[in-house]
Amino acid sequence: KKDTVILGIETSCDETAASIVKNGREILSNVVTSQIESHKRFGGVVPEIASRHHVEQITMVLEEAVHQAEVGWNEIDAIAVTEGPGLVGALLVGVNAAKALAFAKNKPLIGVHHIAGHIYANRLENEFEFPLLALIVSGGHTELVLMKDHYTYELIGETRDDAAGEAYDKVARMLKLPYPGGPEIDRLSKEGEATIEFPRAWLEEGSYDFSFSGLKSAVINTLHNAEQRGETLEPSEVAASFQQSVIEVLTEKTYRAAQEYHVKQVIVAGGVAANKGLRESLKDRFSNGHADLYIPPIHLCTDNAAMIAAAGTILYEKEKFVELDLNANPSLML
Ligand code: KG4
Ligand code: ZN
Repeated sequence: KKDTVILGIETSCDETAASIVKNGREILSNVVTSQIESHKRFGGVVPEIASRHHVEQITMVLEEAVHQAEVGWNEIDAIAVTEGPGLVGALLVGVNAAKALAFAKNKPLIGVHHIAGHIYANRLENEFEFPLLALIVSGGHTELVLMKDHYTYELIGETRDDAAGEAYDKVARMLKLPYPGGPEIDRLSKEGEATIEFPRAWLEEGSYDFSFSGLKSAVINTLHNAEQRGETLEPSEVAASFQQSVIEVLTEKTYRAAQEYHVKQVIVAGGVAANKGLRESLKDRFSNGHADLYIPPIHLCTDNAAMIAAAGTILYEKEKFVELDLNANPSLML
């Protein structure tokens, strides 16, 4: 059988990325340029700045991805691009680059959902076995998704307010940590004990939904009350206590869902999957072997284009192509 070689493009947030992947599993190149430094002083991603950076970077990133992969254009079968969700101006840069290349090189075009990409990042390391449960924890999403086959997604739980990564970033800001806050809190957590009792949002019995707004408010109130009393809390203890609350709920709900749906595999996807505390907690909970747990290496957890090429490979095999009138869709559904 002939190899399938897909060029993936990702520009949904603050990473400009292009990658070439063979047969959905083998990374030939994976180029990521981050704009974090440009957004840091604003404490978050500024959409207008993100779009401009993508425009400046995209050509170089694409050339580098093709160069590093050492493949000719004749060997590339299709171009896969993140069409949504994300920042519309950021998405448009990738979508337009993909359309221009598809037209110029006469290649089929594939539109990929960003979260499908995060899920398929796992397949770069391990072949999927169904049924499979995916815990998706990123800056914009917190979901439990059941997959009975490739590219079929059943939502069994989602956040009712903030995404996990969003909660991390907001709490980090309260602790005056730099953007992005997730990795900062993760690092600080190691230096302190989880001494503060923050709430755990279990919600109704049997629910696989999540909620992080109550926890966020609890952190604000705790910091505020301490300040009123003229005390200063140890940031590492606040970080460790917050992280403990998030991790405990994510781990337990994922474990219960894995049992209820009798899944063979559990995979973890999205930026928060890089969290060391969460990785350890999940590994520990699933160590009894009820389901096989896989978590991608950290560089494949955060935004990249190899994951988009990996997801795009499945759509290529299913011949799910899109026309050159493809548009960015900031609120695309999985
Ligand atoms: O998946 P991602 O790179 O972008 C989105 O699609 O949203 O996720 C970014 C999010 C940010 O909120 C960031 O703070 C969080 O992932 N994050 C982490 C860690 N690394 C990144 N959160 C907790 N611990 C980490 N180590
Ligand atoms: Zn992402």
